[in-house]
Amino acid sequence: MENEQKEMTERVEQLQSQRTETENVILKRRSNRLYKKKQVPEFMIKRILEAGRFAPSAGNCQPWKFVVLREPELIEGITRTTVTVCKIFKWLIDYRYTGSLWRRLNANLNIRLKPNDLHPMPFGAVTLIADGKLGLYHDAPTVILIFKDVRGISNPDLDCGIAGQNMVLAAHSMGLGTCWVGFAKVAFQYTGKWKKRLGISYPYKFASSLAIGWPVGDPDGMVARPTHMTDWYENGTRKTVY
Ligand SMILES: Cc1cc2nc3c(=O)[nH]c(=O)nc-3n(C[C@H](O)[C@H](O)[C@H](O)COP(=O)(O)O)c2cc1C
Repeated sequence: MENEQKEMTERVEQLQSQRTETENVILKRRSNRLYKKKQVPEFMIKRILEAGRFAPSAGNCQPWKFVVLREPELIEGITRTTVTVCKIFKWLIDYRYTGSLWRRLNANLNIRLKPNDLHPMPFGAVTLIADGKLGLYHDAPTVILIFKDVRGISNPDLDCGIAGQNMVLAAHSMGLGTCWVGFAKVAFQYTGKWKKRLGISYPYKFASSLAIGWPVGDPDGMVARPTHMTDWYENGTRKTVY
């Protein structure tokens, strides 16, 4: 019992003075949008997939399917389809367009129906992708598509997010760069081409995807982040902490 107490005290003192390796990877991870052409060795991608596989999920349903793309033809094809759909979106629902009453009404209606997708931030990116000013997979040599199993209990999107972030952190711990790429969703949601080509059907639906590769330079590093206040209840009082 005494030994246990001593070990715990030592551990706490050690933690007070230095961050763990895991914390460092979490705090320093940044999205990378510039990759070397050199492919990532297969064993590294397999270890990254394993990190995803070991993620927790509601009811241990593991409601995901990972698809690894390392063929430029496939990555470029999905990119082209995404650009095409973004162009159509831009034409149909660009709410900054004032030339036509019908288009303005249509934009207003869609913004109300899809407030998250058409928030100015993602919508701005849609127009950048449509105009060729923002790449989709940023020329990453490996892409992991994450499909959710819609039968998963509770919230399969959340489970896929947790699995994806496990993979991202594993990749960064190996010195790789990654970028979450949610925009590829439009290539799977609004066309059947890539689902057919990759053999994706019920119960799988696109959740998100990851670009992975060797970063040019070292994009990782801590940056200032907004601080959200946290309410903390203890000993009958409530305090607010950073
Ligand atoms: C679910 C999700 C989807 C994202 N989709 C894209 C995307 O399609 N394209 C892109 O360049 N970045 C994408 N990002 C990256 C975010 O823009 C980035 O995480 C955010 O700006 C914070 O920057 P940081 O990752 O460097 O900390 C996505 C991030 C998340 C979590």
